[in-house]
Amino acid sequence: MLDFFGHMTIPVDIRTRYDQLIRDIAEHDRRYYEDNRPTISDREYDLLNAELKALEAQFSAMVVPWSPTQRVGHAPISEFAKVVRAVPMLSLDNTYDEADLRAFHERVQKGLGGDMPTYVVEPKIDGIGIEVTYEDGVLALGATRGDGRTGDDITANLRTVRSLPLRLPERVSAIIRGEAFLAREDFACMNEARIEAGEEPFMNPRNATGGTLKQKDPRRVAERPIKVLLYELVDGDRFHENHSASLAWIGKAGLPVSSDIVTCQGFDDLFEVVRSWETRRDSLPFDADGLVIKVDSYAQRRELGATAKFPRWSIAFKFPARQVTTTLRDILVTVGRTGVATPTAVLEPVELSGTIVKKAGLHNWDQVTRLGLRRGDRVLLEKAGEIIPQVISVTEASHEEPFRPPTHCPSCGHSLVRQEGEVALRCPNRLACRSQLLWSVAFFSGRGQLNIEGLGLERADQLIEAGLITDVADIFRIQKDSLLALPGFAEVSAQKLVDAIERARGAATLGRLLAALGIPHVGSVAARAIAAHCRKLDSLLALLDEKGTDAVVDDLLVIDGIGDVIARSVAEFLADPQGRQVIDKLRAHGVDPALPDQQSGGPLGGMTFCVTGTLSRPREEVIRRIEAAGAKVTGSVSKKTTYLVAGAETGKTKLEAALKHGVKVISEAEFDTLLNF
Ligand code: IVH
Repeated sequence: MLDFFGHMTIPVDIRTRYDQLIRDIAEHDRRYYEDNRPTISDREYDLLNAELKALEAQFSAMVVPWSPTQRVGHAPISEFAKVVRAVPMLSLDNTYDEADLRAFHERVQKGLGGDMPTYVVEPKIDGIGIEVTYEDGVLALGATRGDGRTGDDITANLRTVRSLPLRLPERVSAIIRGEAFLAREDFACMNEARIEAGEEPFMNPRNATGGTLKQKDPRRVAERPIKVLLYELVDGDRFHENHSASLAWIGKAGLPVSSDIVTCQGFDDLFEVVRSWETRRDSLPFDADGLVIKVDSYAQRRELGATAKFPRWSIAFKFPARQVTTTLRDILVTVGRTGVATPTAVLEPVELSGTIVKKAGLHNWDQVTRLGLRRGDRVLLEKAGEIIPQVISVTEASHEEPFRPPTHCPSCGHSLVRQEGEVALRCPNRLACRSQLLWSVAFFSGRGQLNIEGLGLERADQLIEAGLITDVADIFRIQKDSLLALPGFAEVSAQKLVDAIERARGAATLGRLLAALGIPHVGSVAARAIAAHCRKLDSLLALLDEKGTDAVVDDLLVIDGIGDVIARSVAEFLADPQGRQVIDKLRAHGVDPALPDQQSGGPLGGMTFCVTGTLSRPREEVIRRIEAAGAKVTGSVSKKTTYLVAGAETGKTKLEAALKHGVKVISEAEFDTLLNF
């Protein structure tokens, strides 16, 4: 369809669907990245994105800059442009105790001629200060704080932050300040991956965020789970009477704002809120180095004004540093799933912000050498981004010999190697090293992978010791009788484990299996992409047998998001006789998954569900999803039923029938997890 000017016209219904998809995806991004409460499965989310991409491919003239496909649309740059701002970003004066804070309150009250101010208390996020500008509702500029007046234009990088909307529901223009940061857990995962990949880990979430935002290639930024929380509407008094109204507006516009913000009046009230944070601090998912206390009313803020450096209407209350010194007793070497030999400091037990610390992390052997650690050193520990504290420095050196990196694997005795360009020491004895086997089995059955409940580290250790498991494929050969012969197992626990293994056998999709195998560099996203491309292991194996590793690499390279490192790693795993043997054994034990398609019947293929009770959504929807995943739905429970999905107020008859036939009863939430592969 070409219009008068020769342009392609876009049918109205297509345009409407396109806009709707963008809005829906933005809303699902918000639920996932901001609320941590997705309401659709990954697969449904992928389908929405696939539909959007298909529409954009067909009608390229329709593509708008706020489409989620345009988040990583910018080419790498050589230098950031400078942003000079009209309203400088001031920093805050600090307080450390009750007396300091009382002095601040008294200054404020005096400045207001004795009026009692309302305060807003917010967590002081320990990240990187940023400022975003929306023009006519569209994200137009993102900048760092820089020196307050001049910052870097990092718009392309901030566009990749999924919780930051590219467009607001209103066509409003506003400048909003906030903080970019990495959640503690995301930071820990990221560092773990860096250590595994032999890269230098980041010191703390703040450094990692700073390093990420300085990247010149937005694609690198998009790979990192950077988050943003906004906390100041610049020129807020143009819109509202007070700051809390501005924060409410920011939240309503779908922009990320902290849910841990409290208002209070007067000093006693304020100090009580501050005190309550002593314990709450640890429950935040990100590092906070204190609180920010702000006068709520914009009129009062104007009255108070600012000094050259700080506003008079706001102050930071800094939390006590989480550092302590203790004695280093030893350095322990552990060999993880991928063979990396990691050092851990064994310490004289010491209290650090409420917990007794006996061990601390050391990132790698370079760090041990750099710090020149010796047995008996007094060392400084800090609890920063990671849950376990880290050794930061030596405060008093002992006279012992410095620790040297190990030369042999403490588990299997094989000599350790250091690959070029890597800081990590590895045990290359992959499948025959007991420690690697132990961690691989625990990983394989972990919640993020095949989710075999009851097969954690301790059990895995027992089963390996008993000779029942020599590789991950052996998990699927375990019989109830052999479990019953082991100490600590009884009828119920043995049956439970066998059932869990059975469920994993049936529910293993190719993507989950590839991720669970722990192939170096292959995480769950890459594994799913490969699975969607190959559909069955057979096709990959056949290609390998006929044409060799390079052909497999070439085949995988066409997949969006799969680069040379991942492609080669997969090909090498399959070509390796030990890797191949595990795959062959898995298939022999009935673990040979295919992605859902018409023939195979989907990830729940062969299962039968019964749905009962009151659910949070229409029953039809649940049934449709079960059927779409290839399973059958029946009205009553029989011995053929695989799962009874029980909502609120489930009838006694169904539950009794489930009990009688040994049918597993799952909640709606568990059902969602089951479908979320
Ligand atoms: S308000 C004049 N609110 O702390 C108001 N800042 O030392 C200044 N920060 O540069 C900013 N959380 O990067 C404000 N809830 C919060 C904050 C916060 C963290 C950072 C920000 C600022 C620094 C001030």
